[in-house]
Amino acid sequence: MKREEIVIPAADIARQRDFQEKIKAMFAARQAHPAACVETFGCQQNVADGQRLMGMLEACGFTFTEEAREADLVLLNTCAIREHAEQRVFGNLGILTHSKRENPEQVIVLCGCMAQEERVARRVRESYRHVDLVFGPQALWRFPELLWQVYETKKRVFSVADEHGGIAEGLPVVRERGVKAWVSVMYGCNNFCSYCIVPYVRGRERSRDPRAVMEEVRQLVEAGYKDITLLGQNVNSYGNDLEGGFHFPELLEEIDRIPGDYWIRFMSSHPKDATPRLFDVMANCPHVAKQLHLPFQSGNNRVLGEMNRRYTREKYLELIRYARSVMPELVLTSDVIIGFPGETEAEAMDTVSLVEEVGFDALFTFLYSPRPGTRAAELPDPASREDKQRWFDRLLEVQNGHSARIHAGYVGKTVRVLADGESGDEAFPLSSRTEGNRLVRLKGDKELIGRFLDVRITGSNTWALYGEPV
Ligand code: 5AD
Ligand code: SF4
Repeated sequence: MKREEIVIPAADIARQRDFQEKIKAMFAARQAHPAACVETFGCQQNVADGQRLMGMLEACGFTFTEEAREADLVLLNTCAIREHAEQRVFGNLGILTHSKRENPEQVIVLCGCMAQEERVARRVRESYRHVDLVFGPQALWRFPELLWQVYETKKRVFSVADEHGGIAEGLPVVRERGVKAWVSVMYGCNNFCSYCIVPYVRGRERSRDPRAVMEEVRQLVEAGYKDITLLGQNVNSYGNDLEGGFHFPELLEEIDRIPGDYWIRFMSSHPKDATPRLFDVMANCPHVAKQLHLPFQSGNNRVLGEMNRRYTREKYLELIRYARSVMPELVLTSDVIIGFPGETEAEAMDTVSLVEEVGFDALFTFLYSPRPGTRAAELPDPASREDKQRWFDRLLEVQNGHSARIHAGYVGKTVRVLADGESGDEAFPLSSRTEGNRLVRLKGDKELIGRFLDVRITGSNTWALYGEPV
């Protein structure tokens, strides 16, 4: 598709503002003060989408509540990545029949990745008749219009057509207060890893204009945000759809020039597209955190092939070696799937051996979950659930041992952290992050939140460090 067909015209976005005004006027005429309860599931991309949805709701006159029963509108911003995520949403939808019975005027909205699946939309249409509005990620920018339709027609509205997807700039956003912010640099995914539902629900890859990204980051830095994460399903293919050879490393370099005291992170990266140039840029840019999330998924080449990942174990190891050669302090994390259809015990142990060989700072480990509509869901899957669980436990044991050793190595050292909130732990009431995004619980006063501090590490366990400011 041509660029001009992908970027949503400013006039169309402006029209959405008219719908926001109409909804606001409708509530004002009733002297109502509507409240919305928004729940977001899943990844950071979805969190970023949730903040835009809240921005649009706020522009429609809503305030926010955590209590679904008190809300005039309940919105579930869903995730489809694994079956468990979907089951939780159906559970929540079930519970909402009660609040809707108590308050028949309540509007229930289902959006996000799950809502884009035909199978889900059909089930909601037939069996969850209290849901008023269903739309997928590609229709997010049209939320005010869709919501107006619900109020005006009093009919259920479904907007789940499979689309390429566009780029909408200038939507309102409600950000979390504090120091962390998310900035999407691109949307969608073209990779079609055989287990993954994302390309089917988030459309094709499309990159935001670098000037729009830079402007957003500049504003965030000026507003005091200090830990900014650039988001994309695969940020390494940023710019493939832009003219002029402007890719992710160039974007990082440009952002790094924005003056201020802040860290820039990004996720996720795909090993097939990560390059030595990216690591050189990371090493040379002072604002770019020396932290890399590089999912490898499997340590076995046959399984990687079946997953359609398009790199080998050897290529992955080579990338890591290079990244560490230019950034010896690099904090490295990854995603892994155990129990892909047809995986044998020996193949799963190749994954365990890769984990031993690399020594990741942390791992996000998943048991394979079949997603209807993906290629892997059609494959024979002979291994038993018990066997897969055993392989999974073995992987966790290796990683936990390693994480504990790495963390213990910090005790007695002084590290720079950004205090980012309260921890809920009485003895160490503050939470903070190192440049590598490692969690450090701190002694100290709330006033320190939002500041960069040097802290001495006094203790550790498998998942956190403990310390006090020096
Ligand atoms: N089953 C299990 N894990 C999955 N992931 C993606 N799809 C599936 C699936 N069907 C994992 C991958 C990805 C992370 C976000 O979720 O490891 O990197
Ligand atoms: Fe899914 Fe692969 Fe795209 Fe990641 S890169 S979102 S795992 S298809």
